[in-house]
Amino acid sequence: MQNLITLGEFIIKNQQDFPYAKGQLTRMFNAITLASKVMNSQINKAGLVDELMGKVGTENVQGEEQKKLDVYANKIFINALKARNEVCGIASEEEEETIIFENEASVNGKYIVLIDPIDGSSNIEVNVSIGTVFAIYRRISPVGKPAILEDFLQTGRQQVAAGYVIFGSSTMLVFTTGNGVNGFTYDPSIGVFYLSHPNIKIPEDGNIYSINEGNSAYFSDDIKTYIDYCKEIDADTNRPFTGRYIGSMIADLHRNILKGGIYLYPDSKKSPQGKLRLLYECNPMAFLIEQAGGIATDGHQSILDLKPTDIHQRTPFYAGSTEMVKVLQDVLTNQST
Ligand code: AHG
Ligand code: MN
Ligand code: MN
Repeated sequence: MQNLITLGEFIIKNQQDFPYAKGQLTRMFNAITLASKVMNSQINKAGLVDELMGKVGTENVQGEEQKKLDVYANKIFINALKARNEVCGIASEEEEETIIFENEASVNGKYIVLIDPIDGSSNIEVNVSIGTVFAIYRRISPVGKPAILEDFLQTGRQQVAAGYVIFGSSTMLVFTTGNGVNGFTYDPSIGVFYLSHPNIKIPEDGNIYSINEGNSAYFSDDIKTYIDYCKEIDADTNRPFTGRYIGSMIADLHRNILKGGIYLYPDSKKSPQGKLRLLYECNPMAFLIEQAGGIATDGHQSILDLKPTDIHQRTPFYAGSTEMVKVLQDVLTNQST
């Protein structure tokens, strides 16, 4: 590492283009990094501490079984954000309803946060990368009153910041405030995030495709055609592509953003609306990917232009290197590849 710049310094110095008060942004990021540090320490001992491992025995609103770490992370992020009074409402994968703060300090908060506290829960107990993903919006309702549902149902375009934390072989925070994407690696020995990946750009083209191909029998003919295309031999386009699928969206996208690739989670007979959640999985990742120079689409339009109607709604999701996503879009609109 040559230039030792901490996350805190970076936010103060490099966010001149952030159109709102920088102190508020700093405090929200303080909450997120503090919660991430707590999570980092807990995740690293998940195998040792029974309280962190396994199922709670409850299901979240989407009927998915909650892991202890899902519930723990949900609490940590909500409490860290609540304590700083910049946020007037939170929506989380683990909470059926929006959380609207009604205390005097929080109703003056100008921001809404949508969060997937742990993405890739099924990988916790097998020591495979998991993450946290968040989207931040300015509220549209008047300050001084509790937030309203419309504050949460803004299009992804309205995001003022988004990011993810990946708990992998090292822990990283990657985020954007609409002025490029930067990545920070955590040094746990001194508790500091350093700028390690300045101005991340996704390669325009790549040769990795990431999809749960076990679901092929449920896929549309278009998706099957595209998967066949990925596997054909063609030296000019560097095919066959390499198949890589971790099953933690954040980890799959993180790899593809750095190396070049395409990620697909289509709608199918098994998941008629797709599986991934628009507001706290796809929108923040789409904002980051567009900021890194890539494409994120539901097959018809940019994810960021979809008008949400429900905080937990799902969407088909295709994202990654521009050239690769364009080929997929051609297949989906039935043009020849
Ligand atoms: P979560 O752990 O937040 O419920 O998200 C799981 C998501 C996503 O992380 C992952 O890419 C996808 O589910 C994997 O789904 P499949 O097992 O259907 O491939
Ligand atoms: Mn998730
Ligand atoms: Mn989750």
